[in-house]
Amino acid sequence: MKKIVLAYSGGLDTSCAVKWLQERYGAEVICFSAFLGEVKNPSVLRKRAFRAGAKRIYIEDLKKEFARDFILPALWAHARYEGKYPLATALGRPLIARHLVRIARKEGAEAVAHGCSGKGNDQVRIEVGVRTLDPRLKIVAPLREWDFKSREEEVDYARENGIPVEATKKSPYSIDQNIWGVAIEAGILEDPWQEPPEAAYRITRSPEKAPRAPKYLVIEFESGIPVGLNGRRMPWVELIQKVTQLAGAYGVGRLDQIENRLVGIKSREIYEAPAATVLLSAHEELEGMVMDREFLHYKRLLSEKYSELVYYGLWFTPLKQALDQFFQSNQKRVTGKVRIKLSRGEAVCVGRSSPYSVYSERLATYSEKDAFDRRAAEGFMKIWGLPYEGTKGN
Ligand code: ARG
Repeated sequence: MKKIVLAYSGGLDTSCAVKWLQERYGAEVICFSAFLGEVKNPSVLRKRAFRAGAKRIYIEDLKKEFARDFILPALWAHARYEGKYPLATALGRPLIARHLVRIARKEGAEAVAHGCSGKGNDQVRIEVGVRTLDPRLKIVAPLREWDFKSREEEVDYARENGIPVEATKKSPYSIDQNIWGVAIEAGILEDPWQEPPEAAYRITRSPEKAPRAPKYLVIEFESGIPVGLNGRRMPWVELIQKVTQLAGAYGVGRLDQIENRLVGIKSREIYEAPAATVLLSAHEELEGMVMDREFLHYKRLLSEKYSELVYYGLWFTPLKQALDQFFQSNQKRVTGKVRIKLSRGEAVCVGRSSPYSVYSERLATYSEKDAFDRRAAEGFMKIWGLPYEGTKGN
């Protein structure tokens, strides 16, 4: 192989991978780093990549594309894997796959590589993504192939090869972060009985340390897209970041879950997803006001399926794309405002309004303004219960 494009995070694994790919395949290694929301210093990244032997490095801020093409569809789908995890990491992987393919073509590379471990979901998402988009590309996963038996061996290899190790001070956790949330695993978290230590969290304050006074957020939606916060219009990425900050300070969006990985393992995962928690519930509330019962109930079934597809790395597939069309189909109506109250670990919707609302106070009220035809209810029940009359259940 002459050229390999490596998805490069700057950590110990991918830095060693640069050197290892060169040695093992005699290839030039082109690094690619996507910025999806983790704060990283590009010049540090560049320096490390070159020290490890990279031929070139592409560093690209892809937050906007990530928010538009990956987070927004997931918001519309109300995507939460197993009812909880809002899929932050899972949404980032197909984007990385897309760009690995793009850069490989541009560079005329025959292969792409990544630093995912051999027992996680991320390898599946990247590899299935790449193969769906370009089956001619070879894929190399150094972490599945190399012989380091421990981190110590890997550190020795790095030292021998002049790769600076001190910059990757070992956190006891494995962390993946982007603007939609943080995933934290390993270390003491592997014992599912242990409460996560406060130090495991990156972007949320503990609910006990949250301000005593609640705070209100007003989120404005236009055609399903969050466009304003507390009366100020702002771009989608900025809005996500702002909500992260505000809701994170109230300890909103911490999740602790045992999750079923695609590769068959159950794993204990900690997530922080303040923006996802607030925005998913805001969107659900508004949609609940503008859509009818049958649509809403049916959509819940599809959301479940959609979340599985995203989790399973099937982003670029026909069913996933068809479901996107379904979720997009009514977004025009999801226009209006939602009021969210933040207080100590909670984000609760306390108000909503929309020009497309089908909520009718005249029908709902118990006051004298009532316009519901109670007499029609009698006939409705006769017909509704007709098939069961006298059947006495089982
Ligand atoms: N379990 C989550 C997922 O499969 C998060 C994986 C995060 N990766 C990590 N290196 N911490 O989407």
